[in-house]
Amino acid sequence: METKCYKESDLDDLIKLNELKTLLIEGKLVVFPTETVYGLGGNALNKDSSKAIYEAKGRPSDNPLIVHIARKEDVKLYARIISEDAAKLMDAFWPGPITFIFDKTDIVPKETTGGLDTVALRMPNHPIAQKLILFTGVPIAAPSANISGRPSSTQFKHVYEDFNGRVDAVIDGGESLIGLESTVIDVTDKPVILRPGAITKSMIEKVLSYTIHDLSGQKPTEKVKSPGMKYTHYKPKGDVVLLHGEIDKVKAFIDQSSANLDKTAIICPNEYTNTFIGYRTRPIGEANNSKSIAKNIFSALRDMDEWDMDKIFIYYNETDEVSYAVMNRLIKASGYQIVSL
Ligand code: TXA
Ligand code: MG
Repeated sequence: METKCYKESDLDDLIKLNELKTLLIEGKLVVFPTETVYGLGGNALNKDSSKAIYEAKGRPSDNPLIVHIARKEDVKLYARIISEDAAKLMDAFWPGPITFIFDKTDIVPKETTGGLDTVALRMPNHPIAQKLILFTGVPIAAPSANISGRPSSTQFKHVYEDFNGRVDAVIDGGESLIGLESTVIDVTDKPVILRPGAITKSMIEKVLSYTIHDLSGQKPTEKVKSPGMKYTHYKPKGDVVLLHGEIDKVKAFIDQSSANLDKTAIICPNEYTNTFIGYRTRPIGEANNSKSIAKNIFSALRDMDEWDMDKIFIYYNETDEVSYAVMNRLIKASGYQIVSL
């Protein structure tokens, strides 16, 4: 399959915009940028299109897709019940990096929701995503645009690496602003966070004026509430160990355990690269700037494969709520190999 590449400015061209619309309406796949990560998009109301998404991604078919809309009023087309709390949260945070789980209406095919009676809805805050959805006139189902198990794509080159020849079109929107996928919150009952993100628990609680639960720490072995929690995520090919604690102890731990220096890398905040002299390091931003780390983390994980590393240490300490969301991804990337020092 030939993958057509579009630039951001192509969406100002009606002919090109129409080409993209036609592809989506016909059930073809278009990768597009959002403010969180790139999405692998298809017509959410077309079951064959959703099947094609699972196939292109190599994703297990019970892991549901997020349906992206461009107008708040469209929620009622796909959500059966919208609680007062859900309405408040949508008003506060949409368009933006938060996804709500609702009971679905009949027009949303089960192929899109991984067989569930619920649907995940998000209104992205990205001009390309909004324009594409509005112009196409259908909701767009889009998981993160990565081959299943790999880190999410936050740059065009990641998308190209994973999907050139596997999808019909890709829109280059540069680097993703946030770099972590959206917060996922189940609002079918009392709100529960299923995945942490840039919209944090305390931001949500401030709107609701009460405390909510966060189930995102569930391990794959437990009975999980979000199917995505069962599967391996974000993993480079090499073995990953996540370290946190005091830098001296971490340094000693790495010095003792590393085998082949040529094949070992350390992902760490900028200020620690000097501590790890002699090792290949991948800085990810300043330790206390969690937003900048969030933006870099997936490309750092992808670099490990590009560098062909066998052993990867990640040194990171939680600093705030966005940092907690970063840690959630790092824990998964390590396959739960975590050492506290
Ligand atoms: O920021 C994002 O959310 C990006 C961009 C493209 O919008 N999308 C994204 O999609 O991260 P994906 O498919 O990689 O992650 C969706 C997560 C999965 O963990 C999935 O299990 C969960 O949302 N999810 C989707 N529908 C659900 C449902 N009905 N009930 C529970 N969890 C659901
Ligand atoms: Mg994903």
